[in-house]
Amino acid sequence: MGIGDLVGRVTGRGGPALDVAGATVVVTGAAGGMGEHIAKGFARRGADLAVVDRDEEGLARVVGEIEAETQVRVTSYVVDLADREAVTDLAARLRDGHPPVRVLVNNAGVALGGRFTEITEDEFDWLLEVNLHTPIRLTRALLPIMLENGEGQVVNLSSLFGILGVPGQTAYSTSKFGLRGFNEALRNELSAEDCSVGVTSVHPGGIATNIAKNARTGSGVDPAEAEQGKRKFDKVLRYPAAKAGEEIVQAALARRSRLLIGMDARALDALVRATPSSYWSYLGPVMDRAGR
Ligand SMILES: NC(=O)c1ccc[n+]([C@@H]2O[C@H](COP(=O)([O-])OP(=O)(O)OC[C@H]3O[C@@H](n4cnc5c(N)ncnc54)[C@H](O)[C@@H]3O)[C@@H](O)[C@H]2O)c1
Repeated sequence: MGIGDLVGRVTGRGGPALDVAGATVVVTGAAGGMGEHIAKGFARRGADLAVVDRDEEGLARVVGEIEAETQVRVTSYVVDLADREAVTDLAARLRDGHPPVRVLVNNAGVALGGRFTEITEDEFDWLLEVNLHTPIRLTRALLPIMLENGEGQVVNLSSLFGILGVPGQTAYSTSKFGLRGFNEALRNELSAEDCSVGVTSVHPGGIATNIAKNARTGSGVDPAEAEQGKRKFDKVLRYPAAKAGEEIVQAALARRSRLLIGMDARALDALVRATPSSYWSYLGPVMDRAGR
């Protein structure tokens, strides 16, 4: 192994930069939030896009803006990623319709407020479907094409809450820890095979998007408490979504294996490493004050 390879392995950079010009990038959840900026960032670098969202109007707006700014081809798929059959159908359409796929960004995600005892099994499963099973299904469909094409990158949006477990976010943290485990195991499988397809595990801290406003609440949660919880989370979402989206694009192109976004994500990642079983006793009171 040369010195360049060694430095790359230690810093989590997986080889020469990806070129996406003329290739296809698939982005889920592209109608707003970080997904919109991820899609625009790849389009500015000349990638054709396949964009997916359940929000038809939002998706049409983003596609219009991309088409006004660039010459790339954009194909839209209006799909509810919580619907297993629709996702199976989408996976087949993406696989058959986009042979030059080089990057898959599983960005779409949802939140569900409520303690474990306040959310039903169906509510918990809905969240796992969108945040965990769908990214795995789309990876299963598109990874073989990337392997056949000889290069590519799977980019999966985990979270800071995939590094630390947060009270009132059991379903969300479960999905994001799960996705992080999938990302790391798959990345290690692929790197052991020495192929040029990599995995980027993304862990944003609080990003200024509509995720808290769009969140569902467990049916056992008191409505006043639910409103207060949403407001509390919304307050800590401060990092600009456009900046986060650009960092994700750059990490994918550099084939980085792990990306923490924001000071909060970097600091709390370090805290969890230093105090793996007691971090919440320090962090809980700080989060409470920040959300007031
Ligand atoms: N905002 C944050 O602070 C933050 C922090 C860590 C991780 N994340 C993760 O980043 C990703 C993007 O989140 P965001 O903050 O931009 O959220 P957002 O709510 O602003 O955007 C999410 C997008 O996904 C789409 N979407 C949601 N459910 C869908 C479904 N069932 N089918 C199809 N499309 C669906 C929405 O319509 C929306 O366009 C998510 O996976 C989220 O969990 C966000």
